[in-house]
Amino acid sequence: MFSNKDISHFANLETPFYYYDLSLLQDTLNTCADAAKLYNFHVHYAMKANFNQTVLQKIKAVGFGADCVSGGEVTKAIELGFDKNQIVFAGVGKSDKEINYALDQDIFCFNVESVQELEVINELAAKKGKVARVAIRINPNVDAHTHHNITTGLDENKFGVNAWDLPQCAETLRASANIEFIGIHFHIGSQITNLDVYKNLCVRVNEFALWFEERGFTVKVLNVGGGLGIDYHNPDHQIPDFKSYFKIFSEFLEIKTGQEVHFELGRAIVGQCASLISRVLYVKNGKKKNFVILDAGMTELMRPALYQAYHKIENLTRGNEFALKYDIVGPICESTDCFGKEVEQPESFRGDFYAIRSAGAYGEVMASKYNLRDEIRSVYSEG
Ligand code: LLP
Repeated sequence: MFSNKDISHFANLETPFYYYDLSLLQDTLNTCADAAKLYNFHVHYAMKANFNQTVLQKIKAVGFGADCVSGGEVTKAIELGFDKNQIVFAGVGKSDKEINYALDQDIFCFNVESVQELEVINELAAKKGKVARVAIRINPNVDAHTHHNITTGLDENKFGVNAWDLPQCAETLRASANIEFIGIHFHIGSQITNLDVYKNLCVRVNEFALWFEERGFTVKVLNVGGGLGIDYHNPDHQIPDFKSYFKIFSEFLEIKTGQEVHFELGRAIVGQCASLISRVLYVKNGKKKNFVILDAGMTELMRPALYQAYHKIENLTRGNEFALKYDIVGPICESTDCFGKEVEQPESFRGDFYAIRSAGAYGEVMASKYNLRDEIRSVYSEG
C-alpha cells in the first residue's frame, strides 16, 4: 500500500526503480524468525531470491544463515558478515573454482546433487587436506503443484540424486575419506501455496532418512528447502503464514533427538517487500486494444515474460476507479514484454505512476541489460 507521501516522493525520482518497504521486510523477518524458534528450526535465506545489500543486511541481523547457489553468492554472504557456519552451497553445476573457494572458506556444508560431484568434492578437499561437510540433495519425486517452470522435485527434473542412484551414492560416501556426510536435502519447487504438498514431502524425507540410517549413516540435518508461496493477488495481505508452514514439519517429520531441521526460504521472506515503480511513457488507444507503455519492462522484471507470472498492477496516480482495459507493456523490443493483458485500470495518462506489486523476489536479481538498458535502481522506505 502506498501513502500520498510515498507518491509525492516518487515525483522527484527518476523511474523505473524498485521501491523497498523495509519495515514490512522487518515485520516479515520477525514473524518468520519467531515461528521458526517455536520449533528450534534453522532458516538459511535463499539469496537467489534477492541479494540486494540493504535487504541482506536486515536478513543477517535477524540471525538467518545464507543458502547460496554460486561462488558469487558465497562471496557476497561472507563479505556481508553471514556466519560461515550458517552458509550452505547448493547448485547442480558447481565449478572446481567455486568448490575450492568454498572449501577455503570452511562453509557449513555443500548440498551435493550427483555422485560425480561427490567424487570431485572429495578429490578437491583431499588436495587441501580438508574434510568437506555434505548433505545429499535427493530428488524425492514429489509434485509441488506449481508452475512447471519452477518445479524441481520430479524424476524429470535435473536436480538432486535420484532414488535409484542412492546405493551408489552411499558407496561413494563410504569410500570418500575427505567427505563428512551430515544429512539430506530436498527442494521440490517454488511458489507452493498448497501446504499439503509439504506433508507429502515429509513422508518422503522420513523414508530417505531411514534409508540412510539403516545403512549406518547418521543423519544430523534434515534440510527441506524452501518454496513457500506468497499471495500475488493480495499484496496487502503481506506476511505469509509461517506458523502453519513450520507446524506441518513439526508434525509430519520424524525428528530424532539431536537432529536439526533446516529451511531455505526465499520468496516468502522478500516477495512482498518491493514493488517496481514506473512512469507511463505513452498511452495508445487502438481499435482492438488499449496500451499503457511503461518505462519499465521485462529487463527490470522478467517473471511475467518468462513464466506468464501474475503481478498486481496499480495506477498510483489515478486511484481505483476502473474505466478501461489496457495491456500494460514495457519499452523492450519483444512481444512478450508485457506485465499484464486486458488489465482494468483507471483512464491513464503520460506521467502517471504505476506500481507492479510483489516484486521483491526474483525481480531485481533477474534484471538484465538486454537492449543496453540502464541498471535498475533501488529506493528504500522505512514506512
Ligand atoms: N532452495 C533451493 C535449492 C532452490 O533452488 C530455491 C529456489 C530455494 C531454496 C528458494 O525457493 P523459494 O523459497 O524462493 O521458493 N525465478 C523463479 C523461482 C526460481 C526458484 C529457484 N529455486 C520465479 O521467479 O518464480
